[in-house]
Amino acid sequence: MPARVKTARRFIVGANWKCHGRMTSARAYAKALGDAALPRDVDVYIAPSLLHLHALRDGMPEEVEIAAQNFWDGGDGAYTGETSGDMLREAGATRVIVGHSERRTLFGETDDDVRMKACRALEDGLSVSLCVGENAGVRSEGGAVEFCIKQLEAVMPYVPESKWRDVVVVYEPLWAIGTGIAAEPKKVQEMHAAIRDWFAARTSVARAAKMRITYGGSVNEQNCQSLAQLEDVDGFLVGNASLSASSFIGICKGSSVAARKCAAA
Ligand code: PGA
Repeated sequence: MPARVKTARRFIVGANWKCHGRMTSARAYAKALGDAALPRDVDVYIAPSLLHLHALRDGMPEEVEIAAQNFWDGGDGAYTGETSGDMLREAGATRVIVGHSERRTLFGETDDDVRMKACRALEDGLSVSLCVGENAGVRSEGGAVEFCIKQLEAVMPYVPESKWRDVVVVYEPLWAIGTGIAAEPKKVQEMHAAIRDWFAARTSVARAAKMRITYGGSVNEQNCQSLAQLEDVDGFLVGNASLSASSFIGICKGSSVAARKCAAA
């Protein structure tokens, strides 16, 4: 079925540094990526803390995207402590992560917040990595797919179809994040296929075939190749294993090898 054609989509691998990093380590990371000869068939983005955006952008190869981990959807104004899309773009960011489970659970972001952030970021000319994912309780009750689709339903119908290509979906089961143990490939593929089927039902099989659906949750150098070969996995968002430049570079390279294997198959 055409919606399952994997080779039509470029891989995209992101680094989510969360609240980690220092200026010196950010500069060293940028240099390491510059020296690494990253694979050309994988899109790469790094989401550092806001304070490190500049340091990274200045030292990083042009083709590596810089992303923000959060975003204020109200624009410039009297909003103490916030950072607007224009400010992010001026600092060199071209993408923002929206809906990460840590924003939802630790900072109380609701589906409505996620929708407003995603829509405003796209309006402001930023691409969006839109995270969805269920917790262990939802998974054990058998409602994982419905839960994630509901999170998508809260956002995607409000995004103009012309902007869908600027959205990368990130499936991140909460029970796999930061544990060192990624979700089993079967569960990942099932969820990604369900998400793609939802897109197909919402628009068309051809449009759904173009959506990039990526996985996050304890991705590392050891497991990235087997995950990358799954039919509906188009990349990763990497937390812990992205903090070391060499391990992140290894994941980018491993993803590229897997993508090429799939293309040749
Ligand atoms: P992890 O984090 O790779 O450390 O599990 C992923 C994420 O939360 O984006």
